[in-house]
Amino acid sequence: MRIKQYRTQFIKELSPFYDAYEAESFFYLILEDKHKLRQIDLALNHELTFSDSDFTVWNSLLKELKKEIPIQYLLGKTHFYGLEFEVNENVLIPRPETEELVEWIINENLKADRTKKIKILDIGTGSGCIAISLAKNIPNAEVYAIDVSKKAIETAKRNALYNKVEVNFILQNILETEVLKCNFDIIVSNPPYVRNLEKEEIKKNVLDYEPHLALFVEDNDALIFYRKIAELAKKNLLENGQLYFEINQYLGKETKDLLENMDFKNIELRKDIYDNDRMISSKV
Ligand SMILES: C[S@@+](CC[C@H](N)C(=O)[O-])C[C@H]1O[C@@H](n2cnc3c(N)ncnc32)[C@H](O)[C@@H]1O
Repeated sequence: MRIKQYRTQFIKELSPFYDAYEAESFFYLILEDKHKLRQIDLALNHELTFSDSDFTVWNSLLKELKKEIPIQYLLGKTHFYGLEFEVNENVLIPRPETEELVEWIINENLKADRTKKIKILDIGTGSGCIAISLAKNIPNAEVYAIDVSKKAIETAKRNALYNKVEVNFILQNILETEVLKCNFDIIVSNPPYVRNLEKEEIKKNVLDYEPHLALFVEDNDALIFYRKIAELAKKNLLENGQLYFEINQYLGKETKDLLENMDFKNIELRKDIYDNDRMISSKV
């Protein structure tokens, strides 16, 4: 069968689950990953065909997509801040909002004196996307990253190796940490922040397949990670040190109040491209 013809069938079969635009984007992601063919290649050569063994692969992916398993887990990878990352069921799929946080940190810290080492800690590193992107883009950074999940740390280590950066990964439960082992210029975290009460607005592909350890917090203490990390930042940020968080879009004011009440300075709350409160920075 011609690939173009199969594309129509693929999109139609996914129509009960995804809109045509999304289904088409899956088609081209798979085409590029499995056949190294881009949309333009197909446009230029209408006669390209699939072999029987190609169909076996495509049909099995189609079956998994109908279960709404995220395409990134099916392909085992995703892109974040221009880099490729392995992802699997043990790590959150990095989100574009988090790229905005990384961009903020890079923009503010590339200006700094490049001869001086910048010590950075990423708490709740997951795939390692924040830590690795910072290590790649801030040449004088010395990066550390913590996660409570052993499998996440193993994945993040492979991602650092793949992207050729050095990051010191530490398996540690931040909620049980009284003081960090060293001091930092920057502490950054995208901790779990989705309340159970928000579960009904979470899509099936997230709820059923992404790790709940990475996502959810109790309704009655939604800022538990922010409070704990801010307490640690008070003890372990160096003079002029900066704390950056990705935040729950519904808790912008509450997160800002928490930092104000803890006497943090220069607090700046920012929105993401969708105009939601999404990140905050402050100084000790
Ligand atoms: C929202 S995910 C962020 C992952 C990644 N930094 C990103 O931005 O895509 C939160 C991460 O925090 C980790 N985590 C959850 N509880 C933790 C704890 N008590 N101590 C350390 N890490 C924890 C999870 O395993 C998960 O990888």
